[in-house]
Amino acid sequence: MSLSGAAVRRKKVSSSNREEAAARPALLLAWYDRHRRKLPWRPLPGEDPDPYRVWLSEIMLQQTGVKWVAPYFEKFVARWPSVNDLGRASLDDVLRMWAGLGYYSRARNLHACAVAVKRDHGGAFPDTEEGLRALPGIGPYTAAAIAAIAFGRRTMPVDGNIERVVSRLFAVEEPLPQAKPLIQQLATTLLGATRAGDSAQALMDLGSTICTPKKPACALCPLNDDCSGFARGDQETFPRKVAKKTGELRRGAAFVVTRGDELLVRTRPEKGLLGGMTEVPTSEWRAAQDDKAALKQAVKLKGLGKWHRKAGVVTHVFTHFPLELVVYTATVPARTRAPDGMRWVPIATLSDEALPNVMRKVIAHGLGE
Ligand code: ADE
Repeated sequence: MSLSGAAVRRKKVSSSNREEAAARPALLLAWYDRHRRKLPWRPLPGEDPDPYRVWLSEIMLQQTGVKWVAPYFEKFVARWPSVNDLGRASLDDVLRMWAGLGYYSRARNLHACAVAVKRDHGGAFPDTEEGLRALPGIGPYTAAAIAAIAFGRRTMPVDGNIERVVSRLFAVEEPLPQAKPLIQQLATTLLGATRAGDSAQALMDLGSTICTPKKPACALCPLNDDCSGFARGDQETFPRKVAKKTGELRRGAAFVVTRGDELLVRTRPEKGLLGGMTEVPTSEWRAAQDDKAALKQAVKLKGLGKWHRKAGVVTHVFTHFPLELVVYTATVPARTRAPDGMRWVPIATLSDEALPNVMRKVIAHGLGE
């Protein structure tokens, strides 16, 4: 019986023997030793990791990229060199230092966690996943990352980068998110007997520098000999994902109110979509809402004259639904007080606010000619 070229390659991979599988952790670590990214929270080879720095970096990296995090990390450790120093700081100072990193609930949890480690653990982080998970702001992924990187626990934190590497390496056909347990199990096979933190960080680095979402540089990959996706030639199609159901279009109105060179804003509730981020006041966002109904929910301010409706709409696509906002503008006299829960911010310092993209678009539209 003859096999197609692809089937031959598949067969070769499926018979990839135990030796190849056993070699993966060592190949990965050897690659990491040569190509690891130099990041400010990583100790130099031979140095012991500092759990405080590992924890701080992992919290910052939860929703923010490495490049953006690096200068914030440096500022934090310069000001608060230990968890006890951070535990003594005021929440306001921590929030101020965090400004611009977004997702402010992280900063609140960071502070609460430092206080708890100082007060309840004598300034030493717990060294198990279970102990770490009991602390504010530390979920399963972060607990595994800290346990592996700071304490060498043999556990594999699986982030988006690692999901991609593993789903390609093993050609995981099951789509995400259902495939998560399988990917976790397969990722764990890439841990060596020791150096769990380096194994995890090797996969993170591989995912962000070589096994990239588009055009992966497979020729440079230490695992290419043994990669099912590469052998099949369809590596870029992994990880499989369940087709997203796009929700129904929601509509609403956004209110861009200026007082001289200041803009009226508020902070979204901590929980839920864009939690803790800054926005201009808006109506509710509802399916099939007409413009009149949205305008009725306009923010009320003393001295506010007429609303001006800007031509056109601002559209934004969230993961679960598309949104269309009509933008109204108004100006109010100097010294007009902001309604409860709102504040004036100078337009010149808006870049210090945690503004989500949809609000950047709304403000640009509202303040534009
Ligand atoms: N993303 C999350 N944790 C990381 C780490 N320790 N190194 C690089 N990227 C990361």
